[in-house]
Amino acid sequence: MRNSHHRSRHPVSPLLHLPILSAAAFTLCFILFLRRYSTPLIKVESLSPLHHTPPPNPLAFPRNSSLESPAAVSTGPYHDWELFQADYNDMIRNLKIYAYPDVFGNVSSRVSFASIFTPLGDPLDAKLGNYYSEHMFKLALLNSDLITFRPEEARLFFLPFSINALRNDRRVRSEEAIAEFVARYVGDVSREFRFWNASGGADHFFVCCHSVGREAVSRHYELHNNAIQVTCSSSYFQRLYVAHKDVGLPQVWPRPVEKELNLPHARRRLVFFAGRKQNSDLRRLLMTLFRNDSDLDIFETTSAFSYEEGFRRSKYCLHVKGYEVNTARLSDAIHYGCIPVVLSNYYDLPFANIVDWNKFSVIINHNQVGDLKKILSSIPEEMYLIMYSNLCLVRRHFRWHHVPEAFDAFYMTAYQLWLKRNSQRVHYIIPNEDIVT
Ligand SMILES: *[C@@H]1O[C@H](CO)[C@@H](O)[C@H](O)[C@H]1NC(C)=O
Ligand SMILES: *[C@@H]1O[C@H](CO)[C@@H](O)[C@H](O)[C@H]1NC(C)=O
Ligand SMILES: *[C@@H]1O[C@H](CO)[C@@H](O)[C@H](O)[C@H]1NC(C)=O
Ligand SMILES: *[C@@H]1O[C@H](CO)[C@@H](O)[C@H](O)[C@H]1NC(C)=O
Repeated sequence: MRNSHHRSRHPVSPLLHLPILSAAAFTLCFILFLRRYSTPLIKVESLSPLHHTPPPNPLAFPRNSSLESPAAVSTGPYHDWELFQADYNDMIRNLKIYAYPDVFGNVSSRVSFASIFTPLGDPLDAKLGNYYSEHMFKLALLNSDLITFRPEEARLFFLPFSINALRNDRRVRSEEAIAEFVARYVGDVSREFRFWNASGGADHFFVCCHSVGREAVSRHYELHNNAIQVTCSSSYFQRLYVAHKDVGLPQVWPRPVEKELNLPHARRRLVFFAGRKQNSDLRRLLMTLFRNDSDLDIFETTSAFSYEEGFRRSKYCLHVKGYEVNTARLSDAIHYGCIPVVLSNYYDLPFANIVDWNKFSVIINHNQVGDLKKILSSIPEEMYLIMYSNLCLVRRHFRWHHVPEAFDAFYMTAYQLWLKRNSQRVHYIIPNEDIVT
């Protein structure tokens, strides 16, 4: 299997797929949609040119019901598509990532822990659930053209341990044991290779999604302080998350492709949420306020229709923080074409430097949960339709592929890493090679 990754590596630059993908995005979402809603106000933008405004205020502490005007939202979902695209192309040409060889499971000193490092046999395994993004990143990286087998040319170094594999390994399992395992591994890597010491780990990264991964770096100072953590739990209040150094990863649930989106007119319900109320005070409050309101589909666990159906039949879908700021509901909403309503203060939203979340989602401060119904029902239909068309444009950024495709969740995440690449490292000498900086 691992060999086939390399043989099946993408033969063509992912950039070549761009026109096809844009066309596909239109076909999927807009054509039918426009046939019905072709008012002059819905100006569906092509992927260029877009407006050139500076990024909005940080979303960490959302302003009160800060809906933009329909005109502002109609400029498309990106801060500056052209600027992003140019730099993205630069990444495709120049970013090289070296994965430590444990990713192949044949490093003799750690071969008994091979399963911690190698990609999972079946990454579509539904049991992966909340850890799906972690696995898909690894698989997509190995299948991408960004990977290099020459560490000297690498801009970044991937530490391939998997938090999900660690928590499922009887020898490790606990949060503390995971942190120790990870610290030991980084120690090994810094002795066996010269790359860690050349930067103090600043050009190294690892990927973790959900729960026990939060504490994984706690036993290794440089790993925590210097290395880039790519994580779904990207909260400004997360003890070991360092904003501006670390990277937010979308938490995606393994779901079959939704071939035909329910169009706006088929979404007859205002809002949907299903989730365990014991996971946060905010959810408890939400339930107390709205559980009995028959205008809103807000449920604890069960409902008369399926979870998926809730997303399909509603215009707005709530992402309400649970134990953590992140859950898969955000990408579920995007997957099913339901406008996400983000009730999760201090969430460093994925890709927020590229996409403007205000253009395809509604961000509501915790302290405004009481106004939820009022806020959502006061959004003009015209505005909703524009957000829907913007949502259609960003959907591809939240989808993983075994062999990554242009602008998908893998390349969007790689782009975040590209922005953090380190230009300086201590010179080191590779035997029989030039001096490399
Ligand atoms: C925001 O909304 C809350 C609750 O409705 C209110 O108490 C607060 O004063 C509002 N803040 C601003 C700046 O309008
Ligand atoms: C481990 O596997 C990789 C990929 O199959 C191969 O390139 C490499 O030479 C192997 N290393 C060892 C020590 O066998
Ligand atoms: C990196 O630094 C550590 C701590 O100073 C040292 O133990 C290790 O041998 C160094 N690694 C290499 C490859 O020189
Ligand atoms: C909601 O309905 C349940 C059961 O019908 C009832 O026990 C509860 O008091 C109601 N809550 C509110 C806030 O009306």
